[in-house]
Amino acid sequence: MSLHEANPETILKAAALLKKGGLVAFPTETVYGLGADALNPAAVARIFEAKQRPFFDPLIVHVADRFQAAKIAEISEKASVLMEAFWPGPLTLVMKKKDGVPDLVTSGLPTVAVRVPSHPVALALIRAFGCPVAAPSANPFGFLSPTTAAHVEGALGSKVDMILNGGPCSTGVESTIVDVSGDVPVLLRPGGISVEDIEKISGPLGAALQNAGKPSAPGQLEQHYAPRTPLEILPVEKIFTDSRLEKAGVLLWKSPLKPFCFRALEVLSPEGSLNEAAQNLFAALHRLDGSGCDVILAEPVPEAGLGRAIMDRLRKAANAGRPQA
Ligand code: TXA
Ligand code: MG
Repeated sequence: MSLHEANPETILKAAALLKKGGLVAFPTETVYGLGADALNPAAVARIFEAKQRPFFDPLIVHVADRFQAAKIAEISEKASVLMEAFWPGPLTLVMKKKDGVPDLVTSGLPTVAVRVPSHPVALALIRAFGCPVAAPSANPFGFLSPTTAAHVEGALGSKVDMILNGGPCSTGVESTIVDVSGDVPVLLRPGGISVEDIEKISGPLGAALQNAGKPSAPGQLEQHYAPRTPLEILPVEKIFTDSRLEKAGVLLWKSPLKPFCFRALEVLSPEGSLNEAAQNLFAALHRLDGSGCDVILAEPVPEAGLGRAIMDRLRKAANAGRPQA
């Protein structure tokens, strides 16, 4: 593994590694991705191996623009309108796939998930490589997503050929995933673009069928994004009176109104901005996880805007400690 500052020279080197079937971790505006040549099944298989990811969980394919997207997916009118509004950016569209996309990428589904990231390093890498890049978040399966190059190095360092460092991710939560392959666009995962903003363009989104643990609704796993330490979501008054507080890592949404004792404390956004909270979420969870606390007690955030994505990640982290239904 080698960690490199992203610059034109290292980006070209990374593109050459992708051409040879290598694995390159790179920054996007949401989280760091673990990239491989999307059209090379052997390279894609290495992603699953490095992440210990089950083969039923399909990957997002990253492209440089809509023209490259059109080579791998059928672009409907609905998809086109959303692309116009939100690409490049944190919106992934699930569309009918065209021939040539390996089954391994889509887990055998007739659809493929595609996005154009807005991070300049991600775009430069895809352009230098010239082909679509399959990239899940660069973390072991089920674990916290990485928002810095150091997170990737810590969790997957020995399994990656190169890590491009492009600084901390500005959005901080993964892309919103919308399935536009059917009549009504369906929200599969809340993320970096709010549902409110998408619905202004698309009209009301349908809700995904909850089918936990089953491959028919991939991305809908109920346990995910989890620190190694158990996490519970509690109203802030209950956190302050919890008997485990002295050994707890506390994740607050805004600045606390009174002092209290704790093992470790992270405040997502002192002034209460949901965008700032999303940006800080995974880094704060990584720090709490490393603090030696017995439990992480997390305050809920309002479920509007990026708050939906934050609560989705916190609930899945909380579920990770529980036996699956
Ligand atoms: O922001 C992001 O989306 C980041 C960065 C690296 O782009 N990527 C990311 O990938 O979050 P990953 O693999 O951690 O999550 C992708 C999700 C998976 O849960 C997968 O099940 C879903 O997208 N997905 C992929 N292809 C799909 C398909 N054809 N139908 C439904 N869901 C799909
Ligand atoms: Mg992921």
